Parts: sequence; structure tokens; C-alpha cells
Amino acid sequence: MNIIQVKDSGELGVVGADLVIGRIKPLKKPVIGLATGSTPEPLYANLIKKHQAGEISFQNAITFNLDEYVGLAHDDPTSYHYYMDDKLFSGIDLKRENAHVLDGEASNLEKECEQFERLMKDAGQMDLQLLGLGLNGHIGFNEPGTSFDSRTHVVELDEATIEANSRFFESKADVPTKALTMGIGNIMEAKEIFFLVTGAKKAEILKRVVHGEVTEKVPASILQRHPNVTLITDIDV
Ligand code: F6R
Repeated sequence: MNIIQVKDSGELGVVGADLVIGRIKPLKKPVIGLATGSTPEPLYANLIKKHQAGEISFQNAITFNLDEYVGLAHDDPTSYHYYMDDKLFSGIDLKRENAHVLDGEASNLEKECEQFERLMKDAGQMDLQLLGLGLNGHIGFNEPGTSFDSRTHVVELDEATIEANSRFFESKADVPTKALTMGIGNIMEAKEIFFLVTGAKKAEILKRVVHGEVTEKVPASILQRHPNVTLITDIDV
């Protein structure tokens, strides 16, 4: 794993956006995996700035988001549809039809996962996957115990994830208990992964992820086996 040490999340935003631009600019049709949550927010803000400065276009890009809650309307401010529109899509020239976010309102969730798999297959191998880290070691919404071979699927969120994400909701009771997520197998197929982790709270789990046993109990530990991961972090690992 390559490690880029930054001083804080602001610097992660600047460094991360430059790295993303460097990777996708030479590509005719970049396929990019996107994450939500607090960690990538400064990176997205910098991508918007760079786009507005004419340094990068997303005209030909195709994106796939890692995950979405089940049962939230797309215009619900706590949904990942809303987050992506608000934090990135509204500020760049990505074609909306090329921005794929799992539909947590689908009447048939299994079918929605199959459809998402088909779309990813048609787009071809992901050039770049952005990834955050859950306090319990999750990537996407692949909670501890998820098979390393998993594909896009419906999950029951862990108590720890509901607790951690309750900060985005009015109360813990409002956090959905189910979500849709790309599987670990999908994530591992990306050509390259930018693994974004900030905040002292994540120091302990990040050390286990980077130096500990590769085990399904710590989903992100599988990244040790990926040939091209760059960890960008303000934590001394
Ligand atoms: C979000 C996602 C999650 C988050 C993780 C960290 O799309 O896939 O795995 O990356 O929960 O979230 P933050 O960045 O809010 O600490």
C-alpha cells in the first residue's frame, strides 16, 4: 500500500483532488467509483473548484457510487443521491445519465443490485475507486463478516454503523437499518484505489487494516492484497 501523509482533511482534499485529476485526465472514458460520507467532502469541493477553473472535465466520465440507504427518497438530504448532487454532481459537467447511484427506493432491491452489476460490467473495469473507512472497518457498507467475494447486495447495517452515521440524521431512530452496497469483490476489481481516511478516531482501526491480519472480520484489511492502493491519511500509521 502506498501511503501519502497529509496534515488534515483540508490537505487531503487538495492532494486527493490533484491525484484524481492526474489519473482521469489522460483517459478517454474514465470509470470512477465514488464514496460518500464526511471524508471525501473536501476532495469533491476541490474537484468542483478545479472544474470551474477549466482544469478538468467530466463530460466523458462514468461514475458508480458505492452505496445507498434503503427507503430514503432521492431528495431526502440524508440520502446519498442528495449528497452526490449537493457535494459534487451539481458543480461539475458529468452527464447525469452517466452518474450511477443505487436506488434504495426500488421495489425489488435484488433486481436493483443485478441491474447495477450489469451497468458496471458494461462500463468496463473501474479505473479508480475512492474509498472511505468505517469505524468498524467497513468499506462501502460491507460490514464485518461480509465475504471478500461479495457482489452488489442488500445489507443490514451494523449497530456501530447506525450509531456512527446518526450524526447525519435528526435522531438515531431515523437512520435506515438497510442499505445497498457494491460488494468487496467489486471494489477489489478496480485498477486503482484511493483510500481516504482522516481523524484520530480512526487511528486504531486503520492500523489494524494496514498492519493486521487479513480477515473478513475487518473488511478493509483485504486492501493489503490489492496491487494498487494509495492511502491518503492524516493518521500516523
Ligand atoms: C460511504 C461509504 C462508507 C464511508 C465510511 C466512512 O459511501 O461507503 O464506507 O466511507 O462509513 O464514512 P465517513 O467518511 O463519514 O467517516
